[in-house]
Amino acid sequence: MKVAVIGANGQLGSDVVRAYQANGDEVQPLTHADMELSNVDAVSARLKELAPNVIVNTAAMHHVENCEKEPEKAFAVNGIGARNRASVSRDLGAVLVHVSTDYVFDGDKNAPYEESDAPRPLNVYGNTKLAGEYFVRGTTDKHFVVRTSAIYGKNPCRAKGGLNFVELMLKLARERGEVKVVDSEFVSPTPTSQIADQIVVLTASDHYGLYHATAEGQCSWHAFAKEIFQLTDTKVKLNIAGPNEFPAKVPRPKYSVLENKALKSAGLNRFKPWNEGLKDYLGV
Ligand SMILES: NC(=O)c1ccc[n+]([C@@H]2O[C@H](COP(=O)([O-])OP(=O)(O)OC[C@H]3O[C@@H](n4cnc5c(N)ncnc54)[C@H](OP(=O)(O)O)[C@@H]3O)[C@@H](O)[C@H]2O)c1
Repeated sequence: MKVAVIGANGQLGSDVVRAYQANGDEVQPLTHADMELSNVDAVSARLKELAPNVIVNTAAMHHVENCEKEPEKAFAVNGIGARNRASVSRDLGAVLVHVSTDYVFDGDKNAPYEESDAPRPLNVYGNTKLAGEYFVRGTTDKHFVVRTSAIYGKNPCRAKGGLNFVELMLKLARERGEVKVVDSEFVSPTPTSQIADQIVVLTASDHYGLYHATAEGQCSWHAFAKEIFQLTDTKVKLNIAGPNEFPAKVPRPKYSVLENKALKSAGLNRFKPWNEGLKDYLGV
């Protein structure tokens, strides 16, 4: 298979490139320098020239504060851009994998979100990502819309400019010996290597549709930090941060746990429990 990976040097994209290469596929890695997603004509021309069988879009404008400041740009990249990639995929007869987010939900459910739950994004980022999902789903039948959450990988997240949560906790512990983390926000921390492997499994099938794709189980950020320190035998004083100690500039869901219901129904779920994924990442 010829697989074009958009966002190939990103946190998730770099693992997607590795996973398809390990699967023996021919990978066409595409970075921001190769294509600006809001430039519809340039993206169409490049993808048509490459003529892949599968297009995996991991790229997005996903810095939440920047999306709030520049909603038109966020919509151009995450919404209209997704529509463009979907129509090119349809014209090529290619399969499109479109990576989306838990931020399409408001977090008020306080129980794991299933694919059938009604989205209600709280911010511009979530709204533009949801628009992208709808454009993909309405434009091409051969799609996998893959929502994931709280991701971390060997390559740092480019939009967040530095360290993932695991590395940040270890750095703060080393430098300060004391760390404060909230215990009132819940996630399923998911290694990008597992998402990448899951995407390869999905595109080997024709079970097209909308999928939640996160590690199994859930924890608070505080419990995640505790596990990181335990597994690495890091000596640190771990405190609980008060609910208003790190006020978010933009509203975000406080409960971001997704249930991989569609993957399980199709017999395709490959995710491990979140603490097993953390062990793999840390190599312990
Ligand atoms: N990070 C999370 O916790 C999280 C959670 C849920 C879902 N997601 C979703 O997961 C996906 C991957 O996230 P990630 O952590 O791998 O992000 P990342 O490391 O920031 O990578 C994003 C990639 O997109 C590229 N990009 C950004 N704007 C672009 C544009 N206008 N045109 C072309 N390329 C552009 C970036 O290139 P440059 O850096 O060179 O601009 C980078 O290669 C995104 O779709 C995001 O919405 C992320």
